[in-house]
Amino acid sequence: MPHRLYVRIAEVSDIPAMLELMAPYMKNGVLLQRDEDDLCQHVQELMVAFYDGQLAGLAALHVYTRTLAEIRSLVVAKPQRHLGVGALLIEGCERMATDLGIEQVFALTYVDKFFHRLGYHTVAKESLPHKVWTVCIHCPKFSHCDEIAVKKSLHLPADHGDHAAHILDRYQP
Ligand SMILES: CC(C)(COP(=O)(O)OP(=O)(O)OC[C@H]1O[C@@H](n2cnc3c(N)ncnc32)[C@H](O)[C@@H]1OP(=O)(O)O)[C@@H](O)C(=O)NCCC(=O)NCCS
Repeated sequence: MPHRLYVRIAEVSDIPAMLELMAPYMKNGVLLQRDEDDLCQHVQELMVAFYDGQLAGLAALHVYTRTLAEIRSLVVAKPQRHLGVGALLIEGCERMATDLGIEQVFALTYVDKFFHRLGYHTVAKESLPHKVWTVCIHCPKFSHCDEIAVKKSLHLPADHGDHAAHILDRYQP
């Protein structure tokens, strides 16, 4: 029987299970600390993956500038690793970025090889805009950050604006 894997934008009802999945990685410093209020306030940025109906992972796309967004809070549940869940979450974040008209995405990560396989290249952390570090100052590792910055350029269709998703679209008499 084939397995079903999909990603979608998170809903507030997903948040308790998301926090449970993130907890050990926030504790060991792999993920930045986030709490329920923070996830609620940023729920439109969050993407969740389901594998055979079970929450299998999550990731977020945070917009910094008109051209740059960060993929953050990426985690896949241990039993569902190496099944393509992480790669699909990244693809989902990239789709979210191109739908918003954003040309570049980056991540600060310890799993640079995972990102390299998906077309990202390592860049100097200093090349990222100053505002990126406004979040990092809350991290206990700020003064000795050993994460690696990876970045990818996305291909926006030339006629992107014409294809932006219309939530409501009516002809008025
Ligand atoms: C990194 C992580 C998200 C990968 O998720 P995943 O669903 O297992 O990834 P995929 O199945 O899409 O992997 C695709 C390929 O990436 C590579 N890859 C996967 N995990 C990797 C890792 N931890 N390190 C290096 N390469 C990795 C492998 O080549 C893999 O292919 P394979 O399964 O055929 O070997 C997952 O291991 C995880 O949640 N780790 C803990 C949290 C973390 O480090 N988050 C990143 C914060 S930026």
